[in-house]
Amino acid sequence: MRRATGPKGRRPPMAKVHSLYTCGQCGHEAHKWLGRCPGCGAWNSFIEERFEGRPASPARIHGAEPTRLADVEVTAATRVKTRISELDRVLGGGVVPGSLVLVGGEPGIGKSTLLLQVLGNLCCDHRVLLVSGEESAAQVKLRADRLLQDLGAVEVLVETDMDAVLAAIKKSRPELVVVDSVQTLYSSEIGSVPGSVSQVREVAGRFMRLAKEDGISVFLVGHVTKEGALAGPRVLEHMVDTVLQFEGDRNLTYRVLRSIKNRFGSTNEIGVFEMKEAGLETVDDPSALFLEDGARSCGSAILAALEGSRSLLIEVQALVAGSGLAYPKLVGTGIDRGRLAMIVAVLSRRAGLNLAGSDVFVNVAGGVRVEEPAADLAVALAIASAHRDSPLKGKTACFGELSLTGDLRFCIGAERRLDEAAKMGIEAVVLPHKNAGSLSVPGVEVLAAGNLSAALAQVF
Ligand SMILES: Nc1ncnc2c1ncn2[C@@H]1O[C@H](COP(=O)(O)OP(=O)(O)OP(=O)(O)O)[C@@H](O)[C@H]1O
Ligand SMILES: [Mg+2]
Repeated sequence: MRRATGPKGRRPPMAKVHSLYTCGQCGHEAHKWLGRCPGCGAWNSFIEERFEGRPASPARIHGAEPTRLADVEVTAATRVKTRISELDRVLGGGVVPGSLVLVGGEPGIGKSTLLLQVLGNLCCDHRVLLVSGEESAAQVKLRADRLLQDLGAVEVLVETDMDAVLAAIKKSRPELVVVDSVQTLYSSEIGSVPGSVSQVREVAGRFMRLAKEDGISVFLVGHVTKEGALAGPRVLEHMVDTVLQFEGDRNLTYRVLRSIKNRFGSTNEIGVFEMKEAGLETVDDPSALFLEDGARSCGSAILAALEGSRSLLIEVQALVAGSGLAYPKLVGTGIDRGRLAMIVAVLSRRAGLNLAGSDVFVNVAGGVRVEEPAADLAVALAIASAHRDSPLKGKTACFGELSLTGDLRFCIGAERRLDEAAKMGIEAVVLPHKNAGSLSVPGVEVLAAGNLSAALAQVF
């Protein structure tokens, strides 16, 4: 009779190729392909990835000891100014040494341009390196010739192998590294192709370790998917310190850079740039850019917006058209669709607007996105104006968050919004009653409204 050598039922481990399916949206892992991700609910998002042997388990468990916070030594981390004022503000006052920043945006929007300008500005006082996996050194040089006056000290490494990149960085010891892009690098330890979920995660993880251990600031360029989300798993956003996203219509010349996550500063801070032959130029007066001249037409309302620490005026446009469809269309560009549906519902139930059977289109002019709830009132007034086919009276701006009851809720930063409105020649601002208080800005009439119907009465 044969006797088993090992414990009953257990076989010696074998090196074997494992398949793992990973959700491209959220990084959820499963052992078989799934049509819908149980993690985030995305359809058709699972991608197969192959691993040789078991994925390594963390080996360094011994020797870890906690430290008392009081004993932690901190060297006063002085931020490095990029000397691009809009970028410095979005970062929260400059680049924090040893931080990992992800810069995302559609193709051609200006990610490489902005970061090359940063390298050009910093290269005289700091050692900087561009790791290019996307363009050859000659292509980078061509762009640099167009953008930079002095490019002598910018170093370029054209390489896609993560090990080689890290070895080169350890050797030349730069203070700032730009990686263009994180999707092109690969680690040979991971069996899947560059740009796949596990590669992107691994590459970003190794740059994070580099940043934290060696105090090197790293900018990662990340591509976005068709839907506009950063490609690669959501975990990428969790790993990095700061996520900056380029917005705007790439056919127009200006671009908005928004911080959607920042461990070292406030989020939703925006920077506005204009794309010129010589690169991205900062725009000091963005309201002028987003507002079209002349009298306001039907279906247009001006939002006195507050983005982070900056106030600006943004035009919201709406069109209401009779629909021949059983399910009328509701289309929003630059605004959250759920929010738009709510505003339309509140307009019909609380302000008596008959929108049933109409297609409603809302567009935020200039390709920017508005995310703050204070934009609700501008969207509602634009739709009401389009529906009535009559423009809002005078030079009026507005802000206010709508509740489901049709009431207008308190919004932060009323004074700063009014200041900006005054600066741009606005004569009156419709705002929530709760904000009106002792608010007074010379040259601007305050039109307080407790609810949506009152606001409508103020502007028509
Ligand atoms: N000579 C030029 N004059 C003005 N603008 C230019 C010129 N050349 C390029 N551009 C602008 O630069 C943009 C390309 O910028 P950039 O290469 O930085 O984009 P990117 O975000 O890195 O794109 P990708 O994801 O494809 O790498 C073009 O869309 C164009 O607007
Ligand atoms: Mg690029």
